[in-house]
Amino acid sequence: MKMNVLEEGDYYKIVKEEFETKYIVDIELSPKEKELFRKLRRCLGKQKIIPEMKEAFDLILKECFNSIGEPYNERVAKFIKNEIFGLGKLEYLLEDDNLEEIMVNGDNKPVYVVHRTYGMMKTNLILQRNDILNIINKIAAFAGRVINKENPLLDARLPNGDRVNATLSPPALEGPTITIRKFRREAFSIVDLIKFGTLTSDLAAFLWLAVEGFRIKPANIIIAGGTGSGKTTTLNCLAIFIPQNERVITIEDTAELQLPLEHVVRFEAISEEGKPLDFNRLLINSLRMRPDRIIVGEIRGEEALTLFTAMNTGHEGCMGTLHANNSRETISRLTNSPMNVPITMLRVLDLIIIQNKIMLNGKIVRRIEEVSEVAGIEGNNLLLNKLYQYDIKRDKITSTGTPSRLFQILAKATGRDLKELNIELEKRKLILEFLVKRNIRRLTDVVSWIQRYYQYGDKLLLEIEKEMKVVGGEAKVGGFGDIRDLL
Ligand SMILES: Nc1ncnc2c1ncn2[C@@H]1O[C@H](COP(=O)(O)OP(=O)(O)OP(=O)(O)O)[C@@H](O)[C@H]1O
Ligand SMILES: [Mg+2]
Repeated sequence: MKMNVLEEGDYYKIVKEEFETKYIVDIELSPKEKELFRKLRRCLGKQKIIPEMKEAFDLILKECFNSIGEPYNERVAKFIKNEIFGLGKLEYLLEDDNLEEIMVNGDNKPVYVVHRTYGMMKTNLILQRNDILNIINKIAAFAGRVINKENPLLDARLPNGDRVNATLSPPALEGPTITIRKFRREAFSIVDLIKFGTLTSDLAAFLWLAVEGFRIKPANIIIAGGTGSGKTTTLNCLAIFIPQNERVITIEDTAELQLPLEHVVRFEAISEEGKPLDFNRLLINSLRMRPDRIIVGEIRGEEALTLFTAMNTGHEGCMGTLHANNSRETISRLTNSPMNVPITMLRVLDLIIIQNKIMLNGKIVRRIEEVSEVAGIEGNNLLLNKLYQYDIKRDKITSTGTPSRLFQILAKATGRDLKELNIELEKRKLILEFLVKRNIRRLTDVVSWIQRYYQYGDKLLLEIEKEMKVVGGEAKVGGFGDIRDLL
């Protein structure tokens, strides 16, 4: 059979066979290495290993190699370390930054992975029931959570931030399962998203203005989309447009948001015994904490009504994600059980952002497909204005030209006319394009530029102009004229 190697690392290979792409982990030890492994295990067996010894473990291991008279072997050392301190064979998958998800589907079945570029792939790794149970017990111990026959479902986070779900049988019919959503060590920023083509600098500037709302009318925004479409990531990117001094409260099932803002209080809906805590109670409690902004990681149940009640009583700038494929479905989920938000309450929702995973030229990409605005209510219907629409042929999201209600509200609230608002958009777009051009992409750096714009306004634009000139560039960033024209 023809086999084409698409990518190769120290411990893995991605190969394209006739009909499928496979992820091959190279972790089988040779008979000689197995023998070495056994000897080392015996040597280590005499010592008591505790998790706190992880840092010093390399030295202990080297001593063992010395005492059995064998040269240091990286592969075997890694194997042992993964067994003792990590999740065994799964560690090899965890260390590949290009994998988004790892899925153990039961006893004696191949493990699957989701790759950033190649999507879902079968691996050659097959785990037995006992291996899987050992890993699940380790995960529960890391997270201080309980999983047993009475509580066979576990949601937890690994020490490195990866999100894990584990299930035992029963109810898991084919043996215990593990699903790991890998947490990016370095979260994506709006600059990354623009570079990926998830949105344009144009739309990013619009959303920036919507999130800040000149501090008078920050928008209430829901980001909806399918599973793993990047909703939480986009939420995180938008939340850093919140001005530094505003008090932000975040509530999540599993803490994923990474907000390098100053005034943030974070909640995870988990009790001390590791059991899920009533999400709605946490939200009600957070309303008593005088928040300027409430960010709900994922809106799923009755907390939706609490959130919309809060928005209807004057809490502005609330944001959250919701699982739905388009804006109609978003409305339908919000208004039906278990959320049961009366349609009239949805009037306060300003924007619905729909983001999905799509297949483009054989690769999986994430795209914002539409941005709609709640325009009003007619009878029992919510009227939506589509402001931005993605066009797959051009692989671009562009404005539909429909006038934005939010813009009109902002204009009225700030005494600006629409022309002035458009200039403001151009300025923000310019800053974003400057960041893209300079590859200033780390979340903390992006935050600092945004906050500096709030502080210095047009002076920052002049600074950008100077910087562009210093390096011999023009004062143009994207397609518009001299920065001074905007000031
Ligand atoms: N715009 C993007 N481009 C490429 N990859 C992305 C993008 N946004 C997120 N990702 C990656 O996709 C994966 C899923 O992202 P994220 O958790 O934000 O999705 P989600 O829609 O919130 O998922 P869930 O449905 O589980 O809540 C992560 O590995 C993340 O790094
Ligand atoms: Mg999410």
